[in-house]
Amino acid sequence: MSHKVGIIGGDGIGPEVIAEGLKVIAASGIDIDLHNYDLGGSRYIKDGTILPDSILEEWRGLDALYLGAVGTPEVPPGIIERGLLLKMRFELDLYINLRPFVKEATEDTEDHNFIVIRENTEGTYAGEGGFLRKNTSHEVATQGSVNTRLGVERCIRYAFELANKRDDKHLTLVHKTNVLTFSGDLWERTFNAVATEYPQIETEYNHVDAACIYMVQDPKRYGVIVTDNLFGDILTDLGGAVSGGIGLACSANLNPEKTAPSMFEPVHGSAPDIVGTGQANPTAAILSGALMLDFLGEIEAAKKIENACAKPETQKGTTTEIGDAIAKLVTT
Ligand code: IPM
Ligand code: MN
Repeated sequence: MSHKVGIIGGDGIGPEVIAEGLKVIAASGIDIDLHNYDLGGSRYIKDGTILPDSILEEWRGLDALYLGAVGTPEVPPGIIERGLLLKMRFELDLYINLRPFVKEATEDTEDHNFIVIRENTEGTYAGEGGFLRKNTSHEVATQGSVNTRLGVERCIRYAFELANKRDDKHLTLVHKTNVLTFSGDLWERTFNAVATEYPQIETEYNHVDAACIYMVQDPKRYGVIVTDNLFGDILTDLGGAVSGGIGLACSANLNPEKTAPSMFEPVHGSAPDIVGTGQANPTAAILSGALMLDFLGEIEAAKKIENACAKPETQKGTTTEIGDAIAKLVTT
């Protein structure tokens, strides 16, 4: 069966790394019916298009979306992020942002293998806020954080289910309950309530600042981490940094009930400074492709790609050389 996948290469190194991801998926023998979409900062500069509702509607008929990176220095921050990426996450109800971090042991560091489950549709990303008296000396800017019981609970439940499938059966809630006494309280109460249904899961709470230290000094302590949208954004860049670099960090934006297609993208951005130089590591995009295949039920192919990416010999050379090396291992 062929899977219908919308491809958004996007800006900067996005199209370069997605090309490698598609090469590897093809090598794995999985049939993908590609639907290309020219969207992102460059398209916006060309004709003002960001994400028309007609395209969103078209996407509802697809099985998944595979995205490289969006954003160009010529477009002011926020326009493409909010109008394209966040619109996708919100409109398609991609409420789970799943980001796995795996690292093999080295001479002086231990191995680790943890997954961050980031709430993906609420928090400060909801866009609540505004200006008063903009550009005056007594200007006011507010930026609220939206946290609903439904939104928090469905994310926490997903994290418990995921933790339950892992051998370590360990789940950490990360927040800042000592300062964010309203949203933090809702997260903590919900977490504790759901925890009573999973007595077999070992639970823990970390303040986000402490979690930053632990993630650097003792990442092995983590199994699954569940956290809000903004903390999850920041923590997962750190997760990438302690797991071989952001060039390896993959992610899945999931609608677990499959009422709309889920979206798969590397954590890194469009990196305009290295476009066309062959320096972009396509592994994050390739691993995001593996997450996509896994979600589409192609578990064996996904595992093969994951294993190939973990082989150190694939991690040398240019963008296409890395893609070729992984594709070769996946074929044989
Ligand atoms: C990410 C990115 C996005 C986010 C940006 C580009 C809006 O940093 O996926 O982590 O903040 O969610
Ligand atoms: Mn980010």
